[in-house]
Amino acid sequence: MIVAETPSLILRYITLDDVDELAKIYADPVVMKYFPSTRTYEETKLQVEWFITWYEKYGFGLWATIHKADNKFIGRCGLIPQIVDGKKELEIGYLLAKEYWNRGLATEAAIASRDYAFEQLGYSRLISLIHRDNIPSQKVALKVGLTYEKDSWISWEMMVRVYAIHK
Ligand SMILES: CC(C)(COP(=O)(O)OP(=O)(O)OC[C@H]1O[C@@H](n2cnc3c(N)ncnc32)[C@H](O)[C@@H]1OP(=O)(O)O)[C@@H](O)C(=O)NCCC(=O)NCCS
Repeated sequence: MIVAETPSLILRYITLDDVDELAKIYADPVVMKYFPSTRTYEETKLQVEWFITWYEKYGFGLWATIHKADNKFIGRCGLIPQIVDGKKELEIGYLLAKEYWNRGLATEAAIASRDYAFEQLGYSRLISLIHRDNIPSQKVALKVGLTYEKDSWISWEMMVRVYAIHK
């Protein structure tokens, strides 16, 4: 199912057919630098199954990010339920294959995710949780209109910077 289209991208539901491409991206230590570790094929498949459950449970989630010019699966971007300091939040998340970085694509995907959450889902606040050294990700958050709010510990035992936007 297609969720959103931007000038360069299509955001659609991830399916089990995407596991191979996503696993290649998750196996890259450069992409995963600010995550606890890279992911194996099996871990990726489990996560995709979890995404599919989210679509059924919440009606949204992290979406396959397709680069229209070459019709390639280049990552996953979208919306992730989180609990931060005991409060339910909705996070905009983005992760792309490194060959596609620095072309404004994560910003395009994040803006589409923001607009979908505000306009289609009726949310009035969104966040992004970002490692303090992950400058590209913080730049994307700022370009999408989020601002730094606070530092917080999250469940995977990592201190993150919380960026937030209100509708
Ligand atoms: C974070 C990520 C999604 C950004 O994707 P992207 O498509 O390159 O993002 P954009 O092109 O929209 O914007 C990137 C910005 O970071 C800047 N940037 C990139 N590398 C940088 C660096 N080393 N130092 C400073 N700025 C940098 C770019 O110049 C651009 O900012 P600008 O538009 O003000 O010039 C991508 O780097 C990624 O997938 N990283 C690995 C996964 C990840 O960390 N995800 C975020 C988890 S919170």
